[in-house]
Amino acid sequence: MSEVAKLLIDGKELTFPVIEGSQGEKAIDIRSLRQETGYITFDPGFGNTGTCRSSITYMDGEKGILRYRGFSIEQLAEQSTFVETAFLLITGELPTREELTRTSVYLNDFSPLHESMKAFYQNYPPKAHPMGILSAMVNAMRSFYPELTDIEEEMNKTYLRIISKIRTMAAMAYRISLGERVVYPRPDLCYCGNFLNMMFDSAVVPYRLDDDLIRALNVFWILHADHEQNCSTTAVRVVGSGKVNIYSTISAGISALWGPLHGGANQAVVNMLEKIHNKGFTVKECLAKAKDRNDPFRLYGFGHRVYKTFDPRAKIMKKVCDVVLSKLKRKDPLLEIVQRLEEAALNDSYFKEKNLYPNVDFYSGILLRAMGIPTNMFTVMFAIGRLPGWISQWKEDVADTEMKISRPRQIYSGKQKRDYIPINKRTL
Ligand code: ACO
Repeated sequence: MSEVAKLLIDGKELTFPVIEGSQGEKAIDIRSLRQETGYITFDPGFGNTGTCRSSITYMDGEKGILRYRGFSIEQLAEQSTFVETAFLLITGELPTREELTRTSVYLNDFSPLHESMKAFYQNYPPKAHPMGILSAMVNAMRSFYPELTDIEEEMNKTYLRIISKIRTMAAMAYRISLGERVVYPRPDLCYCGNFLNMMFDSAVVPYRLDDDLIRALNVFWILHADHEQNCSTTAVRVVGSGKVNIYSTISAGISALWGPLHGGANQAVVNMLEKIHNKGFTVKECLAKAKDRNDPFRLYGFGHRVYKTFDPRAKIMKKVCDVVLSKLKRKDPLLEIVQRLEEAALNDSYFKEKNLYPNVDFYSGILLRAMGIPTNMFTVMFAIGRLPGWISQWKEDVADTEMKISRPRQIYSGKQKRDYIPINKRTL
């Protein structure tokens, strides 16, 4: 007989099936709980709740393992490209040479933006955050590219359309925010090279593409490409469960990513480091603030809901950072602070007891700074990388016959029923 879990509630014993994943993870299937008992489970932040079966990404937070479709993040970062990894996530398999060529052709074909979409940018206030612009622009794609069907081949093109255009939109947002001319995508450049060129090429000083920087950007985006049921992916699945179109669903993911506890952490890390640098805070003062329960300050770039020993992405990111900084012969004073903070936190009993280790964002800001990416574009860079993950999770969700519209329950803790009081009879 397969394994079951028993629950004793109101003197009644109930049996629930146990579900086992392909890596031996186990879940108690409580779908019949409320119907049978009237009880619900209470799990704020969903830390103990599985909301789907997924065959996309596997993580083991204790061992620091991350795999996409069975391939280790270390091998993908070393040997794959972002476009190939995106294909893998979305289709489930690595592409053949022909499939990869076809993918690149579509990415090129789809890279220019609809001219009318460009007009949107002109009316944003100059200091508008690029994440807000990006989320709005992706949502607007529903109106500019309305031909959405259920035909798989057409949907595959839609996925590539978003992956291609998001890069153009991001670079364009940056150029327009600087009041500079827009640089159009070039068909002779690879995905990452094209992005760097659209960001930095200028009529005065033409941008010189560097293979090491292109490689670093590939790795950066591979490391961010998926991370199973995190905050923004959950937003994508929840919004998508209402059968919303894919553009609006991805736009919701972008908004969810923006926050400093999630994708916005890379910007928050650099803001924090700059503050330490400019205001002359010591590492000791910083750690004391982070540990003070009455102080909202957190050591950004530390801690993770799942990783409790180390974040495998952080290890790879640190190495890429070293390569790029030495290649560019750049000394970043913030890197020195990073190193001191890391060392102090790793030897601090508070951080050790709570299993708080550097996450990917602790180093990614330093890498992006070295590449010349402005701080307010950091989370946009994350969003471009996470896009294939959101698409594959959305695709899996809509194809899953077990899935229903997301609609959690709550424990009501408000007032009991009371009578309405007319305004002239209300007392303060
Ligand atoms: N600095 C100081 N204390 C921390 C930190 C931190 N960075 N992270 C967690 N803690 C403390 C909490 O205060 C809490 O203490 P308590 O037990 O005394 O209440 C304990 O460690 C557990 O933390 P939670 O917030 O309950 O852990 P959770 O799993 O909910 O949060 C999170 C994970 C949001 C990543 C958290 O560690 C954090 O805020 N880190 C800083 C922001 C950050 O770097 N986010 C990026 C995450 S990676 C990504 O999204 C790509």
